Amino acid sequence: MRRQSRRPAPDGSAAATRGVIPNDPALYDRLAGEWWRPRGVFAVLHWLAAARGAMVPDAERPGAVLVDLGCGAGLLAPHLEGKGYTHIGVDLSLESLRRARLHGVLAVRGDVLAVPLADGCADVVVAGEILEHVPDLPRAVAEACRLLRPGGLLVVDTLAATALCRFLAITVAERVPRIAMRGVHDPALLVDRGVLVEECARHGVALELKGIRPSMVDAALWALKRRATVRMVPVATTAVLFQARGRRRG
Ligand SMILES: C[S@@+](CC[C@H](N)C(=O)[O-])C[C@H]1O[C@@H](n2cnc3c(N)ncnc32)[C@H](O)[C@@H]1O
Repeated sequence: MRRQSRRPAPDGSAAATRGVIPNDPALYDRLAGEWWRPRGVFAVLHWLAAARGAMVPDAERPGAVLVDLGCGAGLLAPHLEGKGYTHIGVDLSLESLRRARLHGVLAVRGDVLAVPLADGCADVVVAGEILEHVPDLPRAVAEACRLLRPGGLLVVDTLAATALCRFLAITVAERVPRIAMRGVHDPALLVDRGVLVEECARHGVALELKGIRPSMVDAALWALKRRATVRMVPVATTAVLFQARGRRRG
């Protein structure tokens, strides 16, 4: 499905000024060879996948299922090892799914706005760095909650719809090599935290938010090639990058 902006990129964003299509879905197929390079263009997604994996508890029952919405090439897979889930990944990008399969993900081609999986099939639904790419946030939330069994856990990380986030995650980050590619984010699609919490609540999930950021020390050492990865650390505000978690009412 072709991504559509909720509104055009405002003048002045890096993407708008360079004529790049913001949030181009073809980018993930084009750059699929980069997914598993820890120092490649998706490096930050490796750091985020580790932080996301830490939010997923061990499975509570044999045969537990985790659905990873917008799974990309399955960067979450190593962080689920030994936790006891069947890892199902849903994505639009065939090239990314092909790589996800190589890492043990049961890959399903589909749109997170109309997921081809049954109601209540998941013990855990993960939406990592995907909600800021969809043109219909309420619909994506409804789908995520629909997949959860009663008592199941929703795990999210995404970017907030604030001026600070637009400045840091788009204006600044898109100018730093290997941090964010130009046009990867459409400022119009950043996530309104109020809407996210309200929509989750409407579908029976009480979401709790926590701000995170990369450790600056780790990032400096990573840039100097003296660290393999960068840890995410808590931060007092959810106004930029945040994680969220909540259980569906039983
Ligand atoms: C920023 S990447 C995040 C990938 C993965 N969650 C991770 O953190 O490594 C966004 C992913 O969402 C996928 N995507 C974007 N819009 C989608 C949609 N409507 N339905 C399914 N996948 C989508 C892209 O193909 C891409 O793989």
